[in-house]
Amino acid sequence: IQQSAEAAISQAQSMDELEQIRVRFLGKKGELTSVLRGMGELSAEERPLIGKIANEVREAIESLLEQAVNGVKAIEKNERLVKETIDVTMPGKELELGHKHPLTRVLDEIKGIFMGMGFKIAEGPEVDMVYYNFDALNAPKNHPSRDLSDTFYITDDILLRTQTSTVQIRTMEKMKPPIRIISPGRCFRRDTPDATHSPMFHQIEGLVVDKNITMADLKGTLDVFAKQLFGVGTKTKFRPHYFPFTEPSAEVDVTCFKCQGSGCRVCKGSGWIEILGAGMVHPNVLKICGIDPEEYSGFAFGMGLDRIAMLSLGIDDIRLFFENDMRFINQF
Ligand code: PHE
Repeated sequence: IQQSAEAAISQAQSMDELEQIRVRFLGKKGELTSVLRGMGELSAEERPLIGKIANEVREAIESLLEQAVNGVKAIEKNERLVKETIDVTMPGKELELGHKHPLTRVLDEIKGIFMGMGFKIAEGPEVDMVYYNFDALNAPKNHPSRDLSDTFYITDDILLRTQTSTVQIRTMEKMKPPIRIISPGRCFRRDTPDATHSPMFHQIEGLVVDKNITMADLKGTLDVFAKQLFGVGTKTKFRPHYFPFTEPSAEVDVTCFKCQGSGCRVCKGSGWIEILGAGMVHPNVLKICGIDPEEYSGFAFGMGLDRIAMLSLGIDDIRLFFENDMRFINQF
């Protein structure tokens, strides 16, 4: 038995085979076990002799098995180590770092300028009520911007906001003066896309309400803004205009400025370029929001982020912002 166990063990290659050998010789029905079982039939003289030999054989087989198991374990460990080797000298995969979209960059810059003047950021919903987009903003019932051809309606009372001026109303409903906020966000109008129009675009609204706020405060605020965004030499000019929610109202131009990039066309023509709409908050609007126009006054302004980003980065087609062509995006 011992010899045939030795032969089998010496040929075994795997843990499975060694286990089979253990069962074959030492298991409950194993060859050696049946010898031990048969001991009862032996004479009293033979029993201790055979018992001793059987025990020695068992110990010999057990120790051979143990050695063989250790040997196979060592071989398997080696194989695993070889298989799982990591070559630390291999070149790594380079991770591509993302960066800010050009619109976000310009927006961050504009936010920073107004936050520096004490403005807080306020946000409002893109899907809003006709009330906030038109009625509360003093828009006459027949104002052309209310038209189905200009505005995306969801129901008779709900629309995609066409301007961030909605946030003026939402803010004045919630806050008592002093109020000093800017509100950036998406707006929607039924425009056919071309180089300067997109049905989805971005505005940044500004609103200040307090005691004794005058047009001079508006002018001063926008002056500081223009100088910080476009350069210290920049001047602003107010041209009379009409908005339902401000009175008086103005369109604001800035003197030409140096833009970044090659396609810059900021300085064509008169030397002035229009960048935003503004005015003194209409007393009707203050009243609708529960603010007494005898006690408080305010100014508001609104600018198109896309347009300002196009001007300052020298981009000539608004659609480039929304196509996410990496060849464009990666230039900024
Ligand atoms: N909401 C106006 C527009 O979309 C801009 C504006 C905002 C004008 C605030 C005056 C005051 O054209």
